[in-house]
Amino acid sequence: MSSNLSPIDTAKFVAAKKAVDFVEDKMRVGLGTGSTAAWMVRALGERVREEGLSIVGVPTSTRTAELAAQVGIKVVSLDEARWLDLTIDGADEFDDDLNLIKGGGGALLQEKIVATASDTMVVITDPSKHVEHLGAFPLPVEVVPFGWQTTKALIEESLDSMDVLGRSGTLRMNGEAPFVTDEGNHIVDLHLQRIEDARKLSLVLNQIPGVVENGLFIDICDRVVIGHQDGRVEVI
Ligand code: 5RP
Repeated sequence: MSSNLSPIDTAKFVAAKKAVDFVEDKMRVGLGTGSTAAWMVRALGERVREEGLSIVGVPTSTRTAELAAQVGIKVVSLDEARWLDLTIDGADEFDDDLNLIKGGGGALLQEKIVATASDTMVVITDPSKHVEHLGAFPLPVEVVPFGWQTTKALIEESLDSMDVLGRSGTLRMNGEAPFVTDEGNHIVDLHLQRIEDARKLSLVLNQIPGVVENGLFIDICDRVVIGHQDGRVEVI
């Protein structure tokens, strides 16, 4: 299957395929969102159909829920599953401590809730997402629509006390209109360039009224599976 893929899709596909090997019968599995996670959902669906695996999947977005149902994975809500054995998801950046930036696809809130409710979180990625310092990728912050401009100003003000290089935020757009998350919120992307203390920044951001959650995943990820364009896979 992977022979007809572009090099980048080969990397995502082999990482996804390796990660679904961690799934065992009867597991409750969190299903991430994004292009890499979509490969994982398809690969997991193949195992369900071919091996008769009896698992349930908790999706992290409406997109993933639709794909999971299409490929034959039984979808349940997190409230039905309560606690998960494993979550497999993509990431926008990861560092050597396996801290992450997520939310490039706008699903960070459900992704963080689902990953936190899992015994193990495995990230699937290509090598381009590996960074020495988080922050080159704009950090997504989910904010409620009410008073979002005030919230954005408060976020920018709070960055003055933080060790980051950039300080500006932009409202994420979907064409002419603000992007709307599955929970009906907006996203402010913070252009920080380099984050020195991700744990502190995450705590500071989440204390601002109007902020729902931010895309820093600290001490949540347990393993990263890196797929390469030549088909090699590393697990760290
Ligand atoms: C969605 C995410 C994605 O996991 C992240 O954006 C990576 O996506 P892709 O696999 O398409 O590069 O956090 O909110």
